[in-house]
Amino acid sequence: MKTVTKINLGKSGPLVSKLGLGCMRMSSVWGGPTNDETESIATIQAALDSGINFLNTGDFYGAGHNELLVGKAIKGRRDDAFISVKFGAIFYNGQWLGLDLRPIAIKNFINYSLVRLGIDTIDLYQPCRLDNSVPVEDVIGTVADLIKEGKVRHLGVSEITADQLRKAHSVHPVTALEIGYSLADRQIENDLLPTAKELGIGVVAFANTAEGLLTGDMKAPLADDAYQKHFPRFQDENLVKNLEKVEVLKQMAQTKGYTPTQLAIAWVNTRGNHIMPLVSMSRRTRLPENLQAMQIEFTADEMNTLNTTFAQGAILGGTYLQR
Ligand SMILES: NC(=O)c1ccc[n+]([C@@H]2O[C@H](COP(=O)([O-])OP(=O)(O)OC[C@H]3O[C@@H](n4cnc5c(N)ncnc54)[C@H](OP(=O)(O)O)[C@@H]3O)[C@@H](O)[C@H]2O)c1
Repeated sequence: MKTVTKINLGKSGPLVSKLGLGCMRMSSVWGGPTNDETESIATIQAALDSGINFLNTGDFYGAGHNELLVGKAIKGRRDDAFISVKFGAIFYNGQWLGLDLRPIAIKNFINYSLVRLGIDTIDLYQPCRLDNSVPVEDVIGTVADLIKEGKVRHLGVSEITADQLRKAHSVHPVTALEIGYSLADRQIENDLLPTAKELGIGVVAFANTAEGLLTGDMKAPLADDAYQKHFPRFQDENLVKNLEKVEVLKQMAQTKGYTPTQLAIAWVNTRGNHIMPLVSMSRRTRLPENLQAMQIEFTADEMNTLNTTFAQGAILGGTYLQR
């Protein structure tokens, strides 16, 4: 059953599902566990069956493991999928070592990605970050060359500033911006989102649950082994106060008959037709709930409550990007 609507990614860009599937958590990225592969592949295939075509991966997710998984899942049904790949991050033994955005490295990265994915062309190819180590013109120019060669269809960018977005777009049209966005992280509404809209760039919004904060399942204090515990918003009094805000979301979810996570995804979804929630799902049971979230609407009063409770700065302990 196909239940998810399609949108153009960016101004007259490619048709993609309004809900994207984030594959990152199917693999071990920061040294965490690898999810059950059979279930991960089944989840990707069930997502494709439901009309979700946007699949998000990165060549550094599990050192290529994630691309291999996606490759297995789309075998024999390449045309059902829109494949988005990030590159540039260097990990070693689960540790982030930095970025490599040199043109020579990008040309090496893409060849490995194409082999692991088992495809000839990547639909959306994007540097995972930009820094000052390599001029933006060279990074974006290299992807533009790959587009000319037919190895890539569209250029994306990820986790950048409004100025960097303008700069990148002036070198080659940017189709999509991948960025963290949620009720708990709204600072991009000041500058980055308006810039993307002005330039006609689609927004692929991840971390809709703010790393579990908005799921309604979190309790203070977090367990000692919780990875979130390193970040100030999940510590001590900050977490206690932040969870008080989440109570408002929980209450609304209960009244409307949904879960807090569904409302958190729905809020992102309703921020604009050019904004796509990108949600991690490692098991098929997540799909019906998250597809249902895409149908949720808010009354003006409900929207007002959410926007007031989760106004910028309401979540203590810094923003997603500052953590
Ligand atoms: N560009 C970047 O810098 C960047 C950074 C981070 C992530 N990403 C991309 O964005 C995607 C999403 O980001 P994310 O993983 O940080 O955030 P997320 O989508 O909020 O996922 C966090 C967790 O929510 C769980 N979840 C999904 N649906 C749920 C539901 N209905 N109820 C309760 N829990 C639910 C998932 O669990 P299960 O896994 O157990 O299903 C996942 O572990 C990633 O997969 C990745 O592709 C990009």
